[in-house]
Amino acid sequence: MYSAILATLGLAVPLAHGLTPLQTFYPPNLNDTAYITNTTLGTYGGVYQAPTREANTSAPYGSYDYCTMPHPRVQEYSLPEAVKNGSVKANIIYLEYLQRHQRRTPYNILPGGENQPYNCDDIFPYLYAGPAFNAETPMPVYAKTYTDLTNPFVDGYVNGTCQFPQLTIGGLLDGYDHGRDIWAVYGEKLGLLPNTPDSGKVWFRSTESPLTQQSAGGVLRGVWPTWPGALPLHQQTSAVDTVNEGFSCSAQGTVLSAIESTAEWEEHLTVTADLRSQLGSMLGATSSSWQNTFDHFSDNFQGRLCNGYQLPCDFSNPSNCVSMAQAEEVFRAGDWEWNYYWRTNPKVVEYIQLVEGLFIGEIISHFQAVIDGKTSTVYSHVFVHDGDIGPVLGALGINQLRWPAMGSNIAFEIWRTEGTNSGLFVRVLYCGQPIETVRGILDWLPLESLIAILKPYAPTDIVALCSA
Ligand SMILES: *[C@@H]1O[C@H](CO)[C@@H](O)[C@H](O)[C@H]1NC(C)=O
Ligand SMILES: *[C@@H]1O[C@H](CO)[C@@H](O)[C@H](O)[C@H]1NC(C)=O
Ligand SMILES: *[C@@H]1O[C@H](CO)[C@@H](O)[C@H](O)[C@H]1NC(C)=O
Ligand SMILES: *[C@@H]1O[C@H](CO)[C@@H](O)[C@H](O)[C@H]1NC(C)=O
Ligand SMILES: *[C@@H]1O[C@H](CO)[C@@H](O)[C@H](O)[C@H]1NC(C)=O
Repeated sequence: MYSAILATLGLAVPLAHGLTPLQTFYPPNLNDTAYITNTTLGTYGGVYQAPTREANTSAPYGSYDYCTMPHPRVQEYSLPEAVKNGSVKANIIYLEYLQRHQRRTPYNILPGGENQPYNCDDIFPYLYAGPAFNAETPMPVYAKTYTDLTNPFVDGYVNGTCQFPQLTIGGLLDGYDHGRDIWAVYGEKLGLLPNTPDSGKVWFRSTESPLTQQSAGGVLRGVWPTWPGALPLHQQTSAVDTVNEGFSCSAQGTVLSAIESTAEWEEHLTVTADLRSQLGSMLGATSSSWQNTFDHFSDNFQGRLCNGYQLPCDFSNPSNCVSMAQAEEVFRAGDWEWNYYWRTNPKVVEYIQLVEGLFIGEIISHFQAVIDGKTSTVYSHVFVHDGDIGPVLGALGINQLRWPAMGSNIAFEIWRTEGTNSGLFVRVLYCGQPIETVRGILDWLPLESLIAILKPYAPTDIVALCSA
């Protein structure tokens, strides 16, 4: 009740441990393995549960919400401080928006099988191609996954009507909300977005993954609810894509192996040895791909909890189930790993360069085109993966990096100040709030300064670096 009143007033709602929603993004001791083992931390104010068929959860706006990460919303949006207090007059002229796809089923099916069926009957993943010239339009076919129980491989695997991964109905509905809120802020309030998307002022991109393409369909429908036409969603050929680890680069693997061999990495495996062994025997997950990182356990548990399912049980002993306390430790370990990969490992600069340097270079070139007056685009929206959002946040120097969760987003807002000293400034929002970094809060800085922050991560010769 008290929380609801505070929320109505737009005030920060205190969470467990007295945290504000924003503080749940920045656990100060995330770089310490005690963060993983300290059970009293729970989820550090994070939320990992969402209903199957509704977009939202009960988390107060602005909290770390794995299933439905917050995004800029007009009720809470505030102008950059310097604009708000009248010390500068400025207008927003460009928005570069990156987001992870919305929520989905897991990638990783438990080796011992899933003790529950997954149901995706409420969403139609459309799959058709049409001619670009005037000819017959195709039949709008959609994928309908089914399970044939006479297929002997189904036993001990998974029953139901989903692919793994696939966007879920909750993810699609959250995408609509995400887009409506983008329109309310950047269309209605700030007047940046055009009324229709056919104006030559917008540009969209996804990866080759249907998750990102289907998220784009949902979010962009929220932005332009009545636009009757189709829209181009740009993609690079997957084998050389600059996102989602498209191009092949052997040095990525070499550096990753080095990162996963340090004393800190070993320590995080040592302190979680009991947990990993319990989960391994309960779920048949004893292979190295399940044991060497927390990626698979996290993914499996998140995929269940974020779509209205329970934590898994032993396939052959239904009363032996993963506890919430175990899941929370898995999530804390996952967050520790993401912070290690993209913030604190000794090879972090090289690792970001190798994985995301080309994409970071592309973002810089978008900014340069704005500086040079060489672009008509005012809104670029790129639909990618956690593995793309993480390294960009690392390059920005985010203070602490929890796993960039479903629909997590980065908004680069470029503003032009008025008057004789007119110039370009930028603000960077992470999930709707000015991002907190090792260089301070990026609420208002010259665009050239942001480019200087990012540039070291965009190598001049990636081909040479990759083969080194
Ligand atoms: C964690 O980060 C803080 C602040 O950057 C630093 O003082 C501390 O030494 C780090 N701890 C570990 C275990 O790396
Ligand atoms: C565990 O976390 C709690 C809550 O933040 C803190 O008070 C306590 O000191 C921590 N314990 C250890 C052993 O780090
Ligand atoms: C969830 O969304 C519905 C419809 O948009 C809204 O009425 C409701 O208040 C939301 N609930 C929460 C907890 O945010
Ligand atoms: C307005 O905000 C900016 C940025 O925080 C600050 O530098 C400036 O001193 C403020 N000016 C006034 C008049 O409060
Ligand atoms: C598979 O799921 C369906 C629908 O939930 C259920 O009726 C059926 O009993 C399940 N079969 C098995 C073998 O789990």
